[in-house]
Order: sequence, then C-alpha cells, then structure tokens
Amino acid sequence: MSPSADQPVKKIQAIRGMNDLLPDASPRWQFLEARVRDLMARYGFAEIRTPIVEQTALFARSIGEVTDIVEKEMYTFDDRNGDSLTLRPEGTASCVRAAMQHGLLHNQTQRLWYQGPMFRHERPQKGRYRQFHQVGVETYGLDGPDIDAEVILLSARLWQELGLAEHVTLELNSLGSAEARAAYRDTLTAYFEQHGEVLDDDSRRRLTTNPLRILDSKNPEMAEVIAGAPQLIDHLDEASREHFERLKALLEAAGIGYVVNPRLVRGLDYYSRTVFEWTTDALGSQGTICAGGRYDGLVEQLGGKPTPAVGFAMGIERLVLLLETLDLVPAEALGGCDAYLVPMDDASTPEALALAESLRTALPGLNLTLHCGGGSFKSRMKKADKSGAPLAILLGEDERADQAVTLKFLRDDREQQRVAQSGLADTLASLTEHPRHNT
Ligand code: HAM
Repeated sequence: MSPSADQPVKKIQAIRGMNDLLPDASPRWQFLEARVRDLMARYGFAEIRTPIVEQTALFARSIGEVTDIVEKEMYTFDDRNGDSLTLRPEGTASCVRAAMQHGLLHNQTQRLWYQGPMFRHERPQKGRYRQFHQVGVETYGLDGPDIDAEVILLSARLWQELGLAEHVTLELNSLGSAEARAAYRDTLTAYFEQHGEVLDDDSRRRLTTNPLRILDSKNPEMAEVIAGAPQLIDHLDEASREHFERLKALLEAAGIGYVVNPRLVRGLDYYSRTVFEWTTDALGSQGTICAGGRYDGLVEQLGGKPTPAVGFAMGIERLVLLLETLDLVPAEALGGCDAYLVPMDDASTPEALALAESLRTALPGLNLTLHCGGGSFKSRMKKADKSGAPLAILLGEDERADQAVTLKFLRDDREQQRVAQSGLADTLASLTEHPRHNT
C-alpha cells in the first residue's frame, strides 16, 4: 500500500543495541585500529578473517550449552535450506573452526589476530551493545606459561601506548585442569546445596548445570554465601598450580602488576588453567575492556587433535569510550582537512580538478577537499570554512590567466597570498608540514 497524506511514512531505525559509526566518531576508531594493527605485526601475529555467520552447533559446542550466551543471547535463525545458523557471539570458536578446517594446526604453532563485529542479544546500556566489535588474539600449539605472559604483555603494551596503563587492572585466576575443575564442581555443589535456602532461582538452576557460574552472581543476598564458598585456586591440580606460579613469576619479572581474583570464572565454558581480565573503574558497570585465557581442550572438543591454546578479546566500543572519557585521542589522530580548493566559478572547475590531482600526487600526505556542487562565491567560502581546513586555495579567472592561485588563511589573520601554481606544492608542503613525494 502506498502511504497517504494522513499516514506519514514511518522511518526505519537501526536495531536496538546496534550502532552506526558516524563520520565524527570514526577517526577515533581508526586511530585505535591502526595502533592495534601495528602492534600485532610487531608481536608476530597474523590476521585471520572468518565469516560473521557460522553453524549454530559450533558455538553451542564450544561456548557451552548452559552459558548465558548460548542459552539467551545468540542471534540464531534457520536459513532457506533449514540449516540453523548463528551470528557469531565471539571469535574464538570461529578461529578454531577455521584453523582446523585449513590445516593450520597440523604440526605447527600459530599466533593469530582478528577484528570485527560480534552479536549478543544482551540488554543494551553504556558499554554493552547487541552488535559490538572485538579485537582478539588466539595462539595454538604452545602450552607453557611463556605464551600466556606474551599475550598479556601484548595487551599491556597497548594500554601503555594508548596512555591507559594507569587506568586498568589485570585480574588473574587459574581454573585448573578439566579433571580438577570437575572435582571442584562437586565440592562447590555440595557447599551450595547446604545453603540452598539463600540461592535465587537462577543459581538453583545452575546448581545442576554450571555451579561455577553461581560465583559470578551479583545478587547481594547471596554475597555472604559466595564469599564463604570453597575456592578453585585451593583445588588446583599440581601441573596447573605450577603453570600459574610460573606465569605470575614471568609477569612480575616483566613488571606487570596483577591481582589474583579467585572469583574470576569467565562466562564461556572452554577455559582451563589461566584466565584473566583487564578492568577499569572509569566506565561504570561495563568495566571489562579485555578478557581471555587458556582453552587447551577446545580443539579436541571440536574434533581436532589435542592442541594447547590461549587468547583474549578486547571490546572496541569500551576502549574507544575509555579513550574519550580520559581525553586520550591525540588531536592529530582526528585527522581533518588540510586545505579546501575552491574553483571560484564554474569555468574554473576543469583546471581546479587537474590542480587538485597534481597536488595529491605531489603531496601524498595532504588531505585536500575539492569544492564540488557550484554555488555563489559566498556559499563556496562558507563550505571552505565548514570543512575545518586552515587554508583555502582559490582559483578564478584572474588566477588562471596568471597560472597562479590565491591562498586564503581561514583560521588566522594572515594576509592572503598569491602563489604560482608551479610552486604551490612546495608552499603547501611547508605550510602543512607534509613532505613532498620525491619524483
Ligand atoms: P568475552 O569476555 O565474552 O570473551 O568478551 C571479551 C570482551 O568483549 C569483553 O571483555 C568486553 O570488552 C567485550 N564485550 C563482550 N560483550 C560485549 C557487549 N555486549 N558489548 C560491548 N562489548 C562487549 C570472549 O569473547 C572470548 N572469545 C575471549 C577469548 C579469546 N578468550 C580466549 N580467546
């Protein structure tokens, strides 16, 4: 039905919890992404890109059937063939799937990283979205605490280089081996059963499905019972205890401070031994900016050969929020326009286009906007001003006759200046401090 005058067209909005990244904000993301990309190369990590959609079974089997993510948060649908597909809620499972499928785990080690959107149907709030973005690293085939320390050091360097080091805390725990965890699970179940009367419905359900998650509960009425619960760290198997001690010693030797948090259990089932989170107080309740750990059993669980693995993922929205909150994005990273080239009349357009191209060739670092769309001289100058550029390059009939341009300084009182077109690239190079391309 076509809309009628009394039935205005309802505008379609983005899906709740899924954000547009608008042009004003994108330089901050690009700044962070560029720093991350550079860091990954410096640590010898190679990028992997996997599809956003996977078979539902991949996530159910790896993250765990009784986790919040799989039980309540996945965007799952049947495609036209009737196959159950899911928008990836995280990157680790996809990374393992891809590495196994392409033989990347066969007699070799891997250090991989990825970035991209993830999807979870959570209740949106500041720092928590339904489409969010992660940068993750995953390593395969290395079982010592040295690689645990190496990935933690990589993240610590990023905080250092972004100016965040003072604002984040590393929380560390060990979940032990699968066997030690199973034994601990029984101890914990017995303990919580003794305190059945204080457990809420969620926790009572978890008693049979995943009692470790009861430790994660934020219910204040259960705080005391949780505080008194036996701790996994006291029930570690010998090998895991030694791994944990060596990791702590490596971090200390590297000057990385940490807090052991025996309550840190993580919301995904695939972890064993080391788990960690980087948290901040500056973001309110969604203060975990990066989290991960070791998942030595996952490859085998998904049908591969036993392969030790450790990795983490950080939330890009949270990091950008933190950088904004602390005002840590350097002004030059915000980019912007160096110069706005104005053909003063339509007859000057062809020459302006050619001049713009020759400047872009001569000065590859220059951000130059060419005025398009005509208009009066006044409106052209308004656009020049709005571009934020400090400099307008004017080209009109007079200038063309002289093979020159007029430079107008938009942000200070300097006299305008006529410059020959042949010398313009040099003049701009010195005014904007962008080096010339040496041809
Ligand atoms: P995760 O703890 O579920 O772990 O997520 C990692 C990070 O992603 C969180 O610390 C947070 O910064 C960000 N994040 C998670 N959910 C949201 C959301 N709804 N909105 C905004 N940011 C969010 C994982 O995903 C594991 N795959 C990490 C890993 C990699 N472990 C080993 N390798």
